[in-house]
Amino acid sequence: MILSSGEQRMLNGEEGLAKQKAMELLVKYGTALGAERFVDTNNVHVLAGFFPYPDLVKQVVPGLDVDEVASKFLLDTDERIVLDRVKAFTTNHIFAVNKQYWKILQHRSPILADLAERMETYCRRVGINNLATCTPYQVGNILSKGEHCAWTESSAIPFANAVLGARTNIEGSHSSFASAITGKTPLWGMHLERNRLGDLIVELDIDLDTVLEWGLIGYYIGGAAGLHIPVYVNVKSTPNLSMVMALNAAGASSGSIIMYHIVDVTPEAATLQMATGNREIVGSIRYGKKEREQAYLKLNHSKSSKVDIVVLGCPHYSIEQITTVARLLEGKKIHENTSLYITTCKQIKALADRNGYTEMITRAGGLLLEDTCGLEFAHHQSSVIATDSPKQAHYYPGVCGVEDVWYGATEECIDAAITSKWRGELK
Ligand code: F3S
Repeated sequence: MILSSGEQRMLNGEEGLAKQKAMELLVKYGTALGAERFVDTNNVHVLAGFFPYPDLVKQVVPGLDVDEVASKFLLDTDERIVLDRVKAFTTNHIFAVNKQYWKILQHRSPILADLAERMETYCRRVGINNLATCTPYQVGNILSKGEHCAWTESSAIPFANAVLGARTNIEGSHSSFASAITGKTPLWGMHLERNRLGDLIVELDIDLDTVLEWGLIGYYIGGAAGLHIPVYVNVKSTPNLSMVMALNAAGASSGSIIMYHIVDVTPEAATLQMATGNREIVGSIRYGKKEREQAYLKLNHSKSSKVDIVVLGCPHYSIEQITTVARLLEGKKIHENTSLYITTCKQIKALADRNGYTEMITRAGGLLLEDTCGLEFAHHQSSVIATDSPKQAHYYPGVCGVEDVWYGATEECIDAAITSKWRGELK
């Protein structure tokens, strides 16, 4: 890679050990990806919680101080690096396991919960803002069109690229942390104009007017698009925040969609010509009733009509979604054999508290939880789970070993929480 004098200084260690290690890591990463140089970034979303690797944490973390943990897990070095401050504006992903909800999460190791607390303090110390969410764009990390950033979290990446027109690849724990320290990210992939153009046409033959429908098309196209960039045409109504969140999370679960265009809606697709430029179109997919049915059947894995747990809030629920749920629960009671968990981030939970939604949900017997993730609650493999999240419906069998999963509209999930039965579309 060709380095600027400032980048070379960092690599030489003239700006301290942390920047040197971070630059070494980024140079290896950029070289492997064929990047010729770096681009400056002042917006990074890091993964500083270790909930995806519980076994590794249990084996390695006891006995390490927090600087050793960060060095090992976030900078890939056995040297103990004491970081002063990150350079870029940086926010973080959820910690997921926290002591606040120990009654529900106690199947998890206390080591993970302790580590989450220590990492939150560490983040504060080194200047990483504790947003602690998979939806940073909802609570203080919003990007402008064309802004280069380095984000983790698969459902947030298409939000940055497609919805906001900002530029990020899918970063991992190490690369994002190194970018936070240096303010640099390799110039490749989604940072380059030509790679952002659409090359796969998706023609809609069906109206997408609910969150469920946007989740289903996202799931179908994610599975069909491979590494291509879909361009949705013939979209009759503009999706709102909850709808694009469902589209993004679904497409990044069944596949790896990090960028797409919706003609006449998303910022780089005022026209079809603008969305595709001079890129060769590799094919087109028609999405109608048949394709919708296929996606729906793929996400519904249960044979039992009973429901033990209803999980909502993946990605972290918006205040609009919490409003909907609170109103659906007015004057109702959750069934004694069923639990209702709704996840969001601390900041949106505060809004829900302020507006009385938390109380409405609690009065009905549900729980609105902050700073955690629905995948954490699926620890009884014999449970039957209902969710309105295509991402969680996709991951419950593979990640948690829970095979009995229902996926449907929020209204159907609330109905299941009240009746303890699934009475969705497949009935
Ligand atoms: Fe967020 Fe967990 Fe879903 S991190 S996107 S709630 S799987």
